[in-house]
Amino acid sequence: MTQPIPTLHWQGDIEGTLVLLDQKLLPTKTELVVCTNVDEVWIAIQELSVRGAPAIGIAAAYGVCLGAQVALDTELQPMQSRIRQVCDYLAESRPTAVNLTWALARMRTVAEQASDCNPRELAEALLAEARAIHAEDAQMCADIGRHGADLLAELPVGAGILTHCNAGALATGGQGTALSVIFELANRDKHPRVWVDETRPLLQGARLTTWELMQRDIECTLICDSAAAHVMAAGQVQLVITGADRIAANGDAANKIGTYGVAVHARSHGIPFYIAAPTSTFDLSIANGSQIPIEQRSGQEVVQGFGTATAPTGVAVYNPAFDMTPAELISGIITELGVILSPTQERIAPIVHPGGKK
Ligand code: MRU
Repeated sequence: MTQPIPTLHWQGDIEGTLVLLDQKLLPTKTELVVCTNVDEVWIAIQELSVRGAPAIGIAAAYGVCLGAQVALDTELQPMQSRIRQVCDYLAESRPTAVNLTWALARMRTVAEQASDCNPRELAEALLAEARAIHAEDAQMCADIGRHGADLLAELPVGAGILTHCNAGALATGGQGTALSVIFELANRDKHPRVWVDETRPLLQGARLTTWELMQRDIECTLICDSAAAHVMAAGQVQLVITGADRIAANGDAANKIGTYGVAVHARSHGIPFYIAAPTSTFDLSIANGSQIPIEQRSGQEVVQGFGTATAPTGVAVYNPAFDMTPAELISGIITELGVILSPTQERIAPIVHPGGKK
């Protein structure tokens, strides 16, 4: 069985709404959030009702369509200036995933290139672009799954695969990136046994990845993040695969906090560590990972994440939401255009292009 409710979808025409599956509440509650204005989309992204690099890009693109609604009865120029303002605003909702600014740049281009049309026609073009970003992401997920499963064709049946955070259908417009590879391996009767890091502090692994894997009847075992090295040492992990939020020109990759530690453990146990990500996750404007902005989130997520206090009141907390895995620890990056083994700038440049696909 696949995910019963879509991660996000647009309902209606240019005057429609953005409907999100509220990921803050999963897996105990399955509720929808209906966004009718830009502020609600900004909050949904910031508070992680919608999360995962590709999904927040798609949500922001639809958010621009909501922002356009208030200028439908004006002229083209006020509409364009409204779109500029909405794009700037939504870009501030989260800093690390480049898919957000990538999607907003596409929406901005549609608005800037409009001429000889009225606001309603521009709104139609914006909605068509948001829908295209969504549909292309779904296709990229499928292609990533296929390329990843081809790469791993020699993996033994029943191999242990460790993943961190959630890079599945909940994080994308399709069936995921890292999880797409795992789903495709399962489709090819490889019977992967997945070790799921719980992913402190917001438990995307425990709450979301296990939920997705169990819906598809894929064998999975939840572990505390701190158990990853132990299961590797016990010979239970043949491969690690995660998603990414931003990949620099040299292949350094930011992903959920804890990914770097997993990559270090994998290297020290001789286990291949792969990143699966669409080319929209690459940021070729930055040379290396030291320039990737790392989101800092509230300490409350660490000391009182799900309602119960777990540390003394007033304790100082440092809560970076992401970390950066250096390219030398990455065995390969699985993209929709193919696999970049042992990524370097020289290997990435021929495949990934600044404006998207070649
Ligand atoms: O804070 P989150 O839940 O948005 O973090 C998500 C991740 O780190 C994912 O691994 C990444 O966005 C890739 S999703 C295909």
